[in-house]
Order: sequence, then C-alpha cells, then structure tokens
Amino acid sequence: MQENEIFIIGANGQLARALRQQYPQARFAGHDTLDVSDPAVISSFDWSGIKIIINAAAYTNVDGAEINDGRIAAWRINASAVGQLSSICTKHQITLVHISSDYVFDGEVTPHTENEPLSPLSVYGASKAAGDIAAQTTPQHYIIRTSWVIGQGKNFVNTMRNLAERGVSPMVVADQVGRLTFTDEIVRAIDHLLGQSAPYGIYNVTNSGPLASWADITRQIFKLCDYTDLTVTDTTTADYFAGKDGIAPRPLNSDMDLDKLHNTGFISRDWQDELREYLEKNY
Ligand SMILES: NC(=O)c1ccc[n+]([C@@H]2O[C@H](COP(=O)([O-])OP(=O)(O)OC[C@H]3O[C@@H](n4cnc5c(N)ncnc54)[C@H](OP(=O)(O)O)[C@@H]3O)[C@@H](O)[C@H]2O)c1
Repeated sequence: MQENEIFIIGANGQLARALRQQYPQARFAGHDTLDVSDPAVISSFDWSGIKIIINAAAYTNVDGAEINDGRIAAWRINASAVGQLSSICTKHQITLVHISSDYVFDGEVTPHTENEPLSPLSVYGASKAAGDIAAQTTPQHYIIRTSWVIGQGKNFVNTMRNLAERGVSPMVVADQVGRLTFTDEIVRAIDHLLGQSAPYGIYNVTNSGPLASWADITRQIFKLCDYTDLTVTDTTTADYFAGKDGIAPRPLNSDMDLDKLHNTGFISRDWQDELREYLEKNY
C-alpha cells in the first residue's frame, strides 16, 4: 500500500483529521474541492492513480436530517454519493473504505453484530443504511461501522468539558448506552484491515471497555478534569427532548460486537484510557 495512492474525501472532519496524521502523504479533498452532493463533480473528477478511497465525508447533523433541506442533503451525501463512488471504485479497481454508523440499527438487539438486519429509526440512520448497501455493490469494500465518534472538532466530550468550564452542572441522558470511539482507534483499525489485506466486508470498530451512558461518560470527564464541585443528573432521552421539535429518534443501545475485528488480530483499546489521553491533549 503506497500512501500517495490513498485518497481521503471529507478532509476537514473529525475522522479525516486523524487520517491526516496517519497518512500525511495521502491525497485529501474537502467539501470545497470535491462536493460529493453534486453527481457532476464526482463524475468529472480525475480518479487516476488512486488505489484506495477513504470516504470520511458525511452529512452528520442527525436532527438536521429530519427537516426538508437536511433530508435531501443527507440522502445525497450519505447514500447517493456512496453509490456513485462505488461505481467509480468498481470501474477503476479501487478499494473503498466507507464509514457507517450505529444509527443504522434501532438499538433493540444487543450487541450489534455485522450481520444484524438494518433497522434505522431516523432519516440520518436510513441514509447511512442506504450508504452501506451502496458501498457493498463494489467488490473491494471495507465498511467501518462505528459509534459515538470523538476526535478534533465538535463532539460530546468537548461539549461537556465546555459546560464544566462555565460551571454548569448538566442533566445528561442516561438511557442510551455505548462506548466512545476515538478517531485514532478508527484510523488504527482501517490501517490494520488494509495492511493485513483482511477479507472485504463490514467491520464493527469502536473502542473496547465497559458500556456506559452519556451521563456516566460525563461523570468520568468531570472527574478526570477535577470538576468535583459539579454534579451530573441523569435524565431519559424522552425527557431531555420533551417539547422540542425536529428531534430524530435515537437508538438506546449502541453496543457493537468487536469479535470479527478481533479475529483479524486487532486489539481494541479501552475508551477510558483514550478519554484520559484525549483530555490531557486538550483538543
Ligand atoms: N460523529 C459520530 O458520533 C459518528 C457516529 C457513528 C458514525 N459516524 C460516521 O463517521 C464518519 C465520520 O464522522 P465525523 O464525526 O468525522 O464527521 P464530521 O466531523 O461531521 O465530518 C464530516 C465531513 O464531511 C464533510 N462533508 C459534508 N458534506 C460534504 C459534501 N457534500 N462533500 C464533501 N464533503 C462533505 C464535512 O465538511 P463540511 O463541514 O465542510 O461540510 C466534514 O468535513 C461519518 O461517516 C459519520 O456518519 C459518526
């Protein structure tokens, strides 16, 4: 695998920033140079010399996807564009690495395996599920199904830390459980699968460690940052969003089974260790 034959789409997102650290010689395209919502832009792009596409672009505004313009954008970027990229990959014998989400499931089954039937609750989830189907139409594909992504940028950990810095004791949802996934863990898994030439297919990728709710994670953040005078109060998803319009339904269980990834020889890192390191780096 030659690094300069890797092409990363969605260059300025959380995951892409971590990919840039792993693959500094790769080619990158942001929204401004390759707008994947425009089929004409994708079809006129020069794909020569590319052996691996890592698609880190996505419409990730879960609630925004429930309203008209957002719904159209989510389907264009998360589904239609993936279909077009898959056709290009097939035509040019490119390997497609595509990123999927726990939101393709309704959260009723635990843990989620790679074979679980798709059951999205929200428009975002449905668009991501359609993207998974589209990505599987090209033979050389890795679909990385992840959850609760934390990297450089806007994310839950930074939001909670900012609240703490302002002296806020928040009410936080305690009935959604999962594990944080730090972007460097996703990058490590992608590099492992590509490096091992692992069989193509879907792979769950999250950090390991105990299942936790958003409220549990907030308590850990506050403890690690020494905000011992602040409290975190549990609430339910239903109560948290009560009276608010345009809120997407969310799966309550994001427990991803990691056996398939581990059977390739990959050893996952505990999210609690990564959280400690992340807070020390102070992104
Ligand atoms: N965040 C999570 O908790 C989570 C959980 C599970 C799965 N995932 C999946 O993980 C992947 C990476 O997520 P992330 O957190 O890194 O997302 P992110 O930070 O929101 O990054 C997404 C990137 O996609 C770009 N993008 C949006 N529309 C585009 C377009 N039309 N053309 C080209 N680029 C476009 C965005 O650029 P602009 O900002 O310039 O528009 C942004 O840089 C996504 O596939 C997401 O669905 C995320």
